[in-house]
Amino acid sequence: MGLRNYWIKDPNLSDSGFKKIKWAEREMPVLKMIMERFSKEKPLKNVRVGACLHITKETALLVKTLREGGAEVYLCASNPLSTQDDVAAALVEDGFHVFGWRGMNQKEYYECIGYVLSSRPNITIDDGADLVTSIHKIYYKISSNEVAYILNIIGELGEELVKNIMGGSEETTTGVYRLRSLSSQGKLLYPIIAVNDASSKSLFDNPVGTGQSALDGVIRATNTLIAGKDVIVVGFGRVGSGIAYRARGLGARVTVVEVDPINALRAAMDGFRVESMSSASKHGDIFITATGNINVIRREHFQAMKDGVILANAGHFDVEICKRDLEELSVKIEKITDCITTYVMKDGRRLHLLGDGRLVNLACAEGHPSAVMDMSFSLQALSAEYIVKNYKNLPRDVISVPREIDLTVARLKLISMGLELEEMTEEQKRYLESWHLGT
Ligand SMILES: NC(=O)c1ccc[n+]([C@@H]2O[C@H](COP(=O)([O-])OP(=O)(O)OC[C@H]3O[C@@H](n4cnc5c(N)ncnc54)[C@H](O)[C@@H]3O)[C@@H](O)[C@H]2O)c1
Repeated sequence: MGLRNYWIKDPNLSDSGFKKIKWAEREMPVLKMIMERFSKEKPLKNVRVGACLHITKETALLVKTLREGGAEVYLCASNPLSTQDDVAAALVEDGFHVFGWRGMNQKEYYECIGYVLSSRPNITIDDGADLVTSIHKIYYKISSNEVAYILNIIGELGEELVKNIMGGSEETTTGVYRLRSLSSQGKLLYPIIAVNDASSKSLFDNPVGTGQSALDGVIRATNTLIAGKDVIVVGFGRVGSGIAYRARGLGARVTVVEVDPINALRAAMDGFRVESMSSASKHGDIFITATGNINVIRREHFQAMKDGVILANAGHFDVEICKRDLEELSVKIEKITDCITTYVMKDGRRLHLLGDGRLVNLACAEGHPSAVMDMSFSLQALSAEYIVKNYKNLPRDVISVPREIDLTVARLKLISMGLELEEMTEEQKRYLESWHLGT
């Protein structure tokens, strides 16, 4: 019912979108190599891909790669504030089914997921697992407003949806947590590859990509000087550690807040100050969350903060900085720019929240640099090919990217960077495989 081929902000924005996609292409040589092979071999022939990803210039190159492989792609936004509207317009002009725009509300967001699901995808590609968890909620008849919005679009499709699906892949840590939770309850309905956990993704995209782009988001939104600032990074996992190193590189004094003793110790031995959130709240100038957890900065922390602090989140959902507490503590809320909302506290202090607490690198900047997405999206393209070839033998579980694919992406990236890899001699291989030689 009511099916649309696309739903975007403005198809007239396509010129600038095409230019941005072309610009990204220069930095995505590995994906380009895969695209060229796909265009000859057509490994995704007759496959419908339903993707819920940030609609950016890099994603444009992923969906073009999948189409070169023979797939028909339906794409919706994986966050209400991350869509680059000009890129969406270029993709629509290029014949893709795209659903999403910057600033969509919750109802529209789930309706767009509904449009993707109405295509009855054979493969799902997700960033945060909103697409996959929606499929599961529909299948297990778990009612919610979000499910109702989707059902309004897809009608009675329900269980039929799952029959068509060969497998899926997941781009980010938060999505993988959600899928593992489904799997541990024995409820996961089809195999899903945790692209996030591949080495050529999580060692680069999470720390290097988000490390740079989260600070880029803070800087573009505020033009604040990072040097000399007291920056508090909450969460020293893959993403948070990258942010902490880069903030230090820009001259900030960086404090880390962690709940995990190992990661806290890593931060301490890397020379960062490690504190509780209550202590750090009192002195920080800029707070950046990267935990994948809920309400890590909340009422008691806002109450302790200095006047003029900047609050930003780099984690997947807008739940890390408690917006409800901020609202309740405020006497006035001012929108300063598209990216800055100022909460004026009863005592006159002003706390500035960036990008509505959504991922600052996408809400206030352009997301990860293309060169990093080259690896993440090459893994996505090769994982889709792997699913088509192997889905009949894959378990209904969260599975790893095959090591060979992970190594191939890293190897191709090195080659594209003009770097050489040392090769082991036969003697060295034998030595490492043997237990005879010792002291
Ligand atoms: N902005 C982006 O473009 C982008 C890119 C990749 C990942 N992400 C998201 O960033 C988040 C973090 O991903 P990751 O790969 O670093 O995960 P991770 O599991 O490697 O790290 C998360 C860290 O946060 C810590 N933590 C959890 N709760 C905490 C709390 N209350 N206080 C302090 N520390 C706490 C954990 O102990 C862990 O060390 C996820 O939501 C992920 O989806 C965002």
